[in-house]
Amino acid sequence: MGRPKLCVALDADLSEVQRLLDLLRDYPLIYKVGYKLFVPFGPAVLEKIRGRAPSSELFLDLKLHDIPNTVKNGVEGAAALGVNYLTVHALGGREMLEAAAAAKGPLKLLGVTLLTSHGPDYPNFLKSRLTKEGLVLRLAEEALRAGCDGLVCSAEEVSLLKRELGDFLAVVPGIRPAGAEAGDQKRVATPEEALERGADVLVVGRPILRAEDPRRVVEGILKLMGY
Ligand code: C5P
Repeated sequence: MGRPKLCVALDADLSEVQRLLDLLRDYPLIYKVGYKLFVPFGPAVLEKIRGRAPSSELFLDLKLHDIPNTVKNGVEGAAALGVNYLTVHALGGREMLEAAAAAKGPLKLLGVTLLTSHGPDYPNFLKSRLTKEGLVLRLAEEALRAGCDGLVCSAEEVSLLKRELGDFLAVVPGIRPAGAEAGDQKRVATPEEALERGADVLVVGRPILRAEDPRRVVEGILKLMGY
């Protein structure tokens, strides 16, 4: 998969995001846009990021989960915006995943397995007899078989998934440098742990957004990746 990449989750107000983009303009980063920015500002926010950070990549984290035709429409729309990465929930099922993969064009489609905010009790909520690991493996298999380029998974499962399913683009949130607060994330790992276990993209939000010196955090993680 080549050199790992760092993805900054832009879950912040527009003014804060603008400050951050200016601060981090020298670094090779992926910027992740989710509900916080895309719902109120739409595609205009992507243009804004492209304007301030032209060499960065864009990750639209909409985690689509709906009937196949509706998801196909969403994927086509995202592809037309020229984003590099887009998420769909693997829980949406085989037909939905195949419809998404057929519409993705050049963007990298990522299947979300289980959110990093879910702990080991989540299979009970789903009334699944599988363990958390079993459920993640099952969702991962479906997503890759349907044509997803990669998976969003926690650092807890990335090595198991690569062992069982071979190499894929492993996008790992729930990253907390030593000493950072977990917040609502239940399954967290340090950048070192996640990279050791096979993460290809580290997704980091609050530890960068809330840092006194975001550049220092970004530089520290990029250094671990060999930049
Ligand atoms: O602030 P924090 O580092 O926890 O941000 C993690 C980001 O990754 C958030 O934007 C969250 O929506 C996203 N994410 C996640 N777990 C997933 C998929 C995406 O935390 N399974």
